[in-house]
Amino acid sequence: AKDPVRVLVTGAAGQIGYALVPMIARGVMLGPDQPVILHMLDIPPAAESLNGVKMELVDAAFPLLKGVVATTDVVEACNGVNIAVMVGGFPRKEGMERKDVMSKNVAIYKSQASALEQYAAKNCKVLVVANPANTNALILKEFAPSIPEKNITCLTRLDHNRALGQISERLNVQVSDVKNAIIWGNHSSTQYPDVSHATVKTPSGEKPVRQLVSDDDWLKGEFITTVQQRGAAIIKARKLSSALSAASAACDHIHDWVLGTPEGTWVSMGVYSDGSYNVPAGLIYSYPVTCRDGEWTIVQGLSIDEFSRKKLDATAEELAEEKALAYSCLS
Ligand code: NAI
Repeated sequence: AKDPVRVLVTGAAGQIGYALVPMIARGVMLGPDQPVILHMLDIPPAAESLNGVKMELVDAAFPLLKGVVATTDVVEACNGVNIAVMVGGFPRKEGMERKDVMSKNVAIYKSQASALEQYAAKNCKVLVVANPANTNALILKEFAPSIPEKNITCLTRLDHNRALGQISERLNVQVSDVKNAIIWGNHSSTQYPDVSHATVKTPSGEKPVRQLVSDDDWLKGEFITTVQQRGAAIIKARKLSSALSAASAACDHIHDWVLGTPEGTWVSMGVYSDGSYNVPAGLIYSYPVTCRDGEWTIVQGLSIDEFSRKKLDATAEELAEEKALAYSCLS
């Protein structure tokens, strides 16, 4: 039998946490033969609720779940973890300035970075979900210099999956037959959902989405805005933000990172930019990646037309501004 993998979920008493921990305990994230030990962190006001989640995990009698740590102590939470899913953060409340929210999250991600650096397993893989996800991940990277930068990522897989979902609805095809969408840039409304290279499996072979969706105006207009604003649409409908789809996407992200992407398929991940596609180096930017042997690689050589170029640059610019704002909060 395999040794259990320790998976940290911060903000585990929250909405996404509640949807995510049972998925992890059922093997959705790491596979049906991989035992797990869950580490759940939240803050003291949520301690009782966190303990309730722990009780439910016990009650669910998950065969793969070999232990549960539920704590408000960041050191205990980070101790020996192999995977860290960072969902906890300070939400933007009505009337709050962007800088105030940034400043709260910078403080959280700075201190959790140090705890991970000191106490997590060497080679721990980190996924930041909490917003501003890209910039929180960047701060975590800056304050955990001994964690390899390749191990620090943020979630844009939800946006990626939303793009696949929209194409599947539009063409009335199975979502599993649609692949190779790309989310470029920030997990925010400036993200660029790009289907220039996406394909659909049809009875007569793989066909470009661009050929099947003949309405270019839809692809360049409504499709993009629908994906960009899907989070807000869910809040409007549910009066709560997307939690089940976010949790599912977090599982997909780690699953593919650890177990690999299928041949010929790429996914979107927020990763530390190396200047690929003329995006400034040193941002956490969402790119198309393939994964193998537990490592992601940015897909190279995709053609970028003028329309796309502008969108890649606009979202990079926003990230550069966020980075500057985050740094100004540090001083
Ligand atoms: P929530 O408010 O229900 O849960 C957040 C939890 O984090 C709460 O239990 C809170 O007590 C906890 N928390 C706050 N500060 C903490 C700290 N310092 N350490 C540990 N835990 C802490 O929010 P929800 O809906 O679960 O969303 C969580 C985050 O995920 C939000 O920032 C949200 O914007 C973001 N999000 C990101 C998505 C993505 O695709 N990247 C998609 C959906 C949400």
